[in-house]
Amino acid sequence: MILPDDSRSQAKADDRTHVFHSWSAQGLIDPLVVAGAEGSWFWDEGGTRYLDFSSQLMNVNLGHQHPRLVAAIQEQAGRLCTIAPFHANDVRGEAARLIAERAPGDLDHVFFTNGGAEANENAVRLARLHTGRHKVLTMYRSYHGSTANSILMTGDPRRWPSEPGAAGFVHFFGPYLYRSAFHSTTEGEETEGALDHLADVIMFEGPDTIAAIVLEPVVGTNGILVPPPGYLAGVRELCDRFGIVMVADEVMSGFGRCGEWFAVDHWDVAPDLISFAKGVNSGYVPLGGVAISERIVDTFRERPYPGGLTYSGHPLACAAAVASINIFEDEAVLDRARALGTDVIGPGLAELAERHPSVGEVRGLACFWAIELVRDRSTREMYVPFNATGPDAAPMAELVAACRERGLWVFTHFNRIHVVPPCTTSVDDVRHGLSILDEVLALADARVAT
Ligand SMILES: Cc1ncc(COP(=O)(O)O)c(C=O)c1O
Repeated sequence: MILPDDSRSQAKADDRTHVFHSWSAQGLIDPLVVAGAEGSWFWDEGGTRYLDFSSQLMNVNLGHQHPRLVAAIQEQAGRLCTIAPFHANDVRGEAARLIAERAPGDLDHVFFTNGGAEANENAVRLARLHTGRHKVLTMYRSYHGSTANSILMTGDPRRWPSEPGAAGFVHFFGPYLYRSAFHSTTEGEETEGALDHLADVIMFEGPDTIAAIVLEPVVGTNGILVPPPGYLAGVRELCDRFGIVMVADEVMSGFGRCGEWFAVDHWDVAPDLISFAKGVNSGYVPLGGVAISERIVDTFRERPYPGGLTYSGHPLACAAAVASINIFEDEAVLDRARALGTDVIGPGLAELAERHPSVGEVRGLACFWAIELVRDRSTREMYVPFNATGPDAAPMAELVAACRERGLWVFTHFNRIHVVPPCTTSVDDVRHGLSILDEVLALADARVAT
């Protein structure tokens, strides 16, 4: 649908007059008015179409307006729109069962939230009460949400304006071979260096003070960092050795994004808690949650869990989760996501890396990839500086604008372009998006040191 002329300017005027936008200087933004979307495409009020290579905020894993998902929400709306969290309800129970059946290990219980930040807030509360300890270790180069504790868990500059906050959030370096904090040259060395470092942090913080280690199994916004073999198993072992709760933040990496139900499945590691959101129902209705292991549930069998949300397990959101999981099964979406990664995106990005000197590294899996841009391949100088803003960030803004002019919508972070299309994107559409990136990277090459 294209909006009629008379409602076009109204949508923009209402937004600019009344909507306060996330993360933005309100006077400096010019949001696109989106009028509609279907599959891997969305369009503005004038009818200009964009291929959605970011799945909005890396959450629309099944693409836009999937007819079965829309129908499930409509059907649920006609049946029962809302019901308080203290009741049992068919779709809430079914969503919890379907998630528990797909979660690794004995994560058989689900506490529902409205999104990812609340999931992490509750994961931390569960871990603290279960262990009787208070510290939480998280990685630099991570994002865990923007509520009181989840922003303190976050290991990127978005945390800084919210400091000082509650004490007890400690950051450590995870593996990142391309810019190794441990001077590693191989994946094996990186695993060993990162685990030694984490063991040191645990020792210096005091193992008996640490409730949880929270990590994104594949780091999302901060770089699409795929852990080297042995790293997650090593973190699991450290958690077991010191009685620390292992929390996998799968808000971005879960539900097909990495070609599995959960990214940890790649490495056969079962955490004690998994926080999820986004892809659980492609964000058609807000939903997140924590999958909880049996032994942590045991802590709360006789003792009340001191947390809750009016909309915990909202029927519309849960009906969307049930439909989404069924669509994943019926349309073999995990297989499709894996195949897009191995057969199309991976090889396509490798070709771009060969052709364009501005590409330092491409990395990722399934439908979760990053192109890391540099000024100089030998020094690996970042294409724009860490946390660049204003004129420093202009070279990246130029690339975003060039993509947009060509009808490609990408998410960028610092010196990276992320390639994160819906898991249901067609091969032709993915190739089309990559061909646009090929043109745009030529602009980046012009800034590379010769
Ligand atoms: C890994 C991770 N955790 C948590 C969050 C926060 O989720 P929400 O925005 O739904 O609160 C995000 C959002 O991008 C995320 O990527």
